[in-house]
Order: sequence, then structure tokens, then C-alpha cells
Amino acid sequence: MSGTRFTDIRWFGSIDSTNRYLLDEARAGAPAGVVAVADHQSAGRGRLGRTWEAPPGSNLLVSVLLRPDLPPDQRHLASAVVALAAVGAVDAVLGLGLAIKWPNDLLGADGRKVAGVLAEADLAAPAGPVATPGPPIVVGIGINVNWPAGDEDLPPELVGLAASLRQIVGRPVDRDAVLDAMLFGLEHRVADLDTVAGRIRQSDDLRSRCSTIGSWVRVELSDRWFEGTATDLTPEGHLVVESATGTQTVIAGDVVHVRPGS
Ligand code: BTN
Repeated sequence: MSGTRFTDIRWFGSIDSTNRYLLDEARAGAPAGVVAVADHQSAGRGRLGRTWEAPPGSNLLVSVLLRPDLPPDQRHLASAVVALAAVGAVDAVLGLGLAIKWPNDLLGADGRKVAGVLAEADLAAPAGPVATPGPPIVVGIGINVNWPAGDEDLPPELVGLAASLRQIVGRPVDRDAVLDAMLFGLEHRVADLDTVAGRIRQSDDLRSRCSTIGSWVRVELSDRWFEGTATDLTPEGHLVVESATGTQTVIAGDVVHVRPGS
């Protein structure tokens, strides 16, 4: 896309996973800024080892290779900027305000999930090219653009939990317009990752879009869970929760689930 660093956009009719593809390209030395877009994925990856599925030609399935100069405890900001760029794109193209459910979901106004973000890093990969030597972080996003067309398309267990932009606005949505707007908006957000002031700007944006703040949540970690009120995000993008035992700071990479509490 001209005017941005995303000039190398690789399109696939079908591929196993755009995240897998870009991670392998990164290990072979690909520079930051390469984008992979697929019409269909045969083994799309979701969080927690789940699969991410969509019928061919219906939704946006995109991954971006980043090599940001980020302190290790701020890596969540790499996936946050992609989520924020997607929110901005949907706003620009459709006038629709999505919220970010921390850490990685994009929700419509009624709380149904419209998109998910999966960041995968390979910290042991060889350095990238001189201009962008940092370790690769591949950030993939799946946006339900035109599928499901209606609830009848969804498996029963997802009815009420997932929706598409098409369902929300009541007409088919142009995938390319959303992709273009997302990459355009991502340019300045990715540039922000390399400076202290920029990272604060992005974490401020994340905070202002984060619907988790103010709600009672149940936080499930690999070895324990607790409940409390999500009160804030730290500048690194971690979730601050006030629980019965005090203030707890939850790191995106450690969390299994953040659900509404009971
Ligand atoms: C989630 O579980 O919510 C995250 C889903 C991420 C899916 C996207 S689709 C494009 C990219 N390639 C993948 O294999 N996964 C991500």
C-alpha cells in the first residue's frame, strides 16, 4: 500500500495459515512490513491452540510481520496496534465503533465478537535485515467481514457470541476497503512502537477503546483464577484488576481467559 511500509503484500487463494507463513518467512530473514492476506486458510490459528475458520472469500484473514524495537514487557503493544488499526478502519469505512475486549478481541456494541488477534513471536529467530533487525512478531487478525451472513451460518455454540460486520450494518461489506484503511492506519501506529512517547500514545488509545475497563472480570491464568474489577491498563498494555486480595496486574501473554465475572 503506497505511502506506508506495507508495500510487499502477498495474496493467497488458499494457504494453511498466514501467521505460519510469515513466521517461516521471518526465520528466513524477511524484513518488517511484509503482509500476507488469504482468501481461505486450511489451518487458521486462533488463541489457545484453537482453529480459526471462515468460508473462502468471505472474511479478512491477514498477518503482518513486525520487528519493533520494543522492551520485552511491552510486546503486547504490537498486537494492540493491529487491533487499534482494525477498529479505526471499521470506523472509517462503516462508521461503526468496535470495542476492544482485553487482550485481543474486537466486539460489536452488543458484545458479540467480530474479530480476533493472534500475535506469535520467535525470539530465537536470526536478526532481520539491517534496517529492521529486531526479533519478529507476526500479528494476525481475522475479521468477520461478510461471514456469518446470519446466525443460521454459525455453529449453535457461537450464536450470540460471534457476528460479522455484514450482520451489524445489514449489507455486504467491501473487504479490500477495510484492509486498505487498516494498513493505512497501522503505518503511524507501528512507527509509534519505536519511541517512548509513541508507545504511550498507543497505550492511551488502547485504554480509550478497551471495554474491559470498569467491568467485573474473572481472570483465568494457567495455574489459578481470581475475580475483581478491571480498573485500568498500564502503559505497557497490562490489565489492572482490583481483587479481594489487592491490586493485580495481568500480562496478556499469561492469561488464558478474561470473562465477565459472576
Ligand atoms: C483468536 O483466537 O481470536 C485469534 C484469531 C486470529 C486469526 C487470524 S486469521 C489471520 C491469521 N492467520 C492465522 O492463522 N491466524 C490469524
